[in-house]
Amino acid sequence: MDTQHEHLYTLIEDYLRSGYRRRTTPTGAPSSEEPADTGTGHVDDRIVTGEERERRLSELVAAIRSCNMCPLSAVRNRAVPGVGVLDPLVMVIGEGPGADEDRTGQPFVGRAGQFLDKWLEAIDLSREKNAYITNIVKCRPPQNRDPLPDEREACIPYLERQIALVRPRAILTVGRISGRVVCGVDTSMGELRKQTYQYRGVPVVATYHPSAVLRNETLKRPVWEDLKRLRDICDRS
Ligand code: URA
Repeated sequence: MDTQHEHLYTLIEDYLRSGYRRRTTPTGAPSSEEPADTGTGHVDDRIVTGEERERRLSELVAAIRSCNMCPLSAVRNRAVPGVGVLDPLVMVIGEGPGADEDRTGQPFVGRAGQFLDKWLEAIDLSREKNAYITNIVKCRPPQNRDPLPDEREACIPYLERQIALVRPRAILTVGRISGRVVCGVDTSMGELRKQTYQYRGVPVVATYHPSAVLRNETLKRPVWEDLKRLRDICDRS
C-alpha cells in the first residue's frame, strides 16, 4: 500500500475510533458498555488492512497466552488462543480446551479434534486453508467440566475481538455451551440447530460437539445436515 493510502486508512480509523463506535453484545443486541481491555489497546477493527489485522491478532494471541483474568489460568498448562487463517469461510467455536489442547496449546487436536477435521474436510474446509478454530474459554476447565459463567464472561472479550479481526464469513458452533453463548439462546442443542442465527451480521450454524457424536452415532446424520447448510451459506455469501 502506498503512503497516501496508508494516510487515508489512518484517518478513517481515527474517525471510527472517535465518532462511530457502536458495540453489540454476543447476542447481537446493542450495548452501551466499552469492551473489556484485552491488552491490545485497539477498539475498532473494522477498517484496517489485512497486515494490520495480522499484527493485532498476534498481539491478542500474546495477551491470551499470558491472561490471568479468571481462576482457570492458575490451573492451565497452556492457554489455547486459536488457529487458522484470516478471512476464513468459517470460524469454528468449541467450548474449551481438553487435556491434549492444554498440553499443546492448539485447539481441537485430540480425538474430538481429529473427528472435527474430518467434518470440515467433508465440506472442503480446513484449518490450514479456509477455517479458523477457537473456543469460548481459552484455558482448560478441570476434569473437562463445563466452563462456569464467570469464566465465560472473563473470556468472551477475546472471542469478540477474534471475530472482529479474523472476519469469518460464517460461524459454526459445536456443542451446547458455545451454541448458547454465541446464539444468545438458552435452549437445548436439538432446538438450537433448527435455525440459522446471526452474530453481528455473521450467520451462525449450531451443531453437536464432536465428542457427543463419538459417543452417540445417531447424531452423525443431523451433523451432516448442519454441515451442508453451513456450506450452502458459505457458497451463497
Ligand atoms: N473440545 C473443545 O470444545 N475444544 C477443544 O479445543 C477441544 C475439545
